[in-house]
Order: sequence, then structure tokens, then C-alpha cells
Amino acid sequence: MTFSHRHLLGIEHLAPSDITAVLDLADTYADLNRQPQKHGDALAGMTQINMFFENSTRTQASFELAGMRLGADVMNMSMQTSSVKKGETLIDTAMTLNAMHPDLLVVRHPSSGAVDLLAQKVNCAVLNAGDGRHEHPTQALLDALTIRRAKGRLHRLNIAICGDIAHSRVARSNILLLGKMENRIRLIGPPTLMPSGIGEFGVEVFEDMNEGLRDVDVVMMLRLQKERMDGGFIPSEREYYFRYGLDSEKLGMAKEDAIVMHPGPMNRGVEIDGTLADDIHRSVIQDQVEMGVAVRMAAMDLLARNLRQRTAA
Ligand code: NCD
Repeated sequence: MTFSHRHLLGIEHLAPSDITAVLDLADTYADLNRQPQKHGDALAGMTQINMFFENSTRTQASFELAGMRLGADVMNMSMQTSSVKKGETLIDTAMTLNAMHPDLLVVRHPSSGAVDLLAQKVNCAVLNAGDGRHEHPTQALLDALTIRRAKGRLHRLNIAICGDIAHSRVARSNILLLGKMENRIRLIGPPTLMPSGIGEFGVEVFEDMNEGLRDVDVVMMLRLQKERMDGGFIPSEREYYFRYGLDSEKLGMAKEDAIVMHPGPMNRGVEIDGTLADDIHRSVIQDQVEMGVAVRMAAMDLLARNLRQRTAA
């Protein structure tokens, strides 16, 4: 198993063999997580600090549980009440924490590139838990594991990513990962929600859901990232649902055994029909959450091995 990276900042830096290494190890952690005794010791004695500068439910809980299950001391910094509110910069906060010798720093930040910058300043391993509209590598890895377990493979699949592509770090990381693993990717959404220069990603772009969903194996829905919009991207939520909201009728265009994914949090009745999202025969949304803990355990385990090696050298 090879994974020689110091940080996990983005899918951009990973080779297909790195991706497979994380997913193979995550498979074993997914099994462990289903046992009544869920403890491993890969992070025993280590300190993990979670710094979330943006709201998060599942990602923060997932990283916290993952660290605890592997024996780390886990601390969640409450950024709402931290000195950042007193004007301290991100880098000053990071340097202060760095002086306390953490081993793993998990960071979410609203600015694209902020996590990369921070990683250059600290001695520990940094994991990007989402930076602006740039990358969200553990989300793409957990999506990949979910697909691989549901479909039995992670190559030569037709995968549609639908909705607010422009503002989505989830879409960006998934396009990179699924492309590296040689899948055919279709992006579906209104032109206002497509990033510029999308032609360079090696994907097919569709404006029409029914056309784009034809015969796909995987339908990945995205949340409308209203917090990153400054008006005018969609006519109305009602109109958006009519054209781009996934319901069983539109899903009928996809393969009969196509799976439905969503990273959460969902806007039911805006990008996806609530009943479809809950349909365990089609939707793997809860599996994504389950695989999230396993993937984060695997990623932190692999980074910790490299940390130990560097310290020993
Ligand atoms: C995603 C995120 O934060 O980028 N959520 C998540 O991590 N589960 C997607 C989103 O917020 O829509």
C-alpha cells in the first residue's frame, strides 16, 4: 500500500494508486465500524485538532468520530468564539496551535486556497475538509468508496453530476477523482451554474436533465450553494426543481440500477424529491455518510504512518 503524501489537500495531488490505497484501507475500516467494538490504535497518542471556519454537521462529526475510533485525542476548536473573531488571522491561529504540537489538523475554510496556505506554515499533517469552491477531497473519496461498493468497480462508469457545479468543491473533487479513475463524466445544469472553462475538464456538458441522465450508472446531485451566490443564478426554486430537481420520472432516464447520491445537506423539493432521497432501493445517501467515517479513518491512518516515518528518520 503506497501513499507517500504529507498532507491531504486535494484530489489534484493524488495518483490513481493513492486513491486505491485509501479506498482499500477504508473498506477494512467500514467493516470495523459495523462491529460493536470499533477501536483501532493507528492514531494512539496523537493529537487531532478540527478547525471549522464554516458550518458543518456531517463532515465535522465524521472527522471527530474517525479520530476517536483510532485512538487520537481529538479537539474541536470553536471558531465562532475563537480569537479569529478578535481579528487574529488564519495563519496566526494556525501557528499558535502548531506550537502545541498537534499531529493532524483538519481544516474547513470559506476561502479557496486557504488550507494549502496553512499547510505550508505548520509541521503537522493537514487535511482539507473543504476550502471555498476549490476542493473537498475526503468527500470525493467517500463518494468513490460508496460507488465502488455499490457498483463493484470504480472505472468505466457513466456518472452524472447535476446542479450547482460552479460553486461546488464537491463537484470539483469528484470530477478530478472520477476522471483519474477513467469514468465518463457528464455535468448537468443551467449554464449560469457551470464554471467557466469547463471544456478543459474532459467532461460532457448538458443543459437538459432528461438528455444528460440517459443510461447513466450514477446520479450525483448537488446542493444549491446559496451562500456562495450573489443573486440571479436561478429564476426561482420552483422553476429550478421543475427543470433540475431529481424525481423518479427524471431518474427513469438513467439505467434501471442507477444509484442516487447527495453529499448533504439536502434541500428537499429543490434539488431532489424527498421520497426519492429516502428510497433505500435507489438512494445511497446514508451509505455515503457511513463511508465518510471509514474514509477519514483511512486517510488519517495513512498520513500518520508517514508522520511516524518522518519522525523516526
Ligand atoms: C458539502 C460541502 O460542505 O461542501 N457538504 C458536506 O461536506 N457534506 C456540500 C454542501 O455543503 O452542499
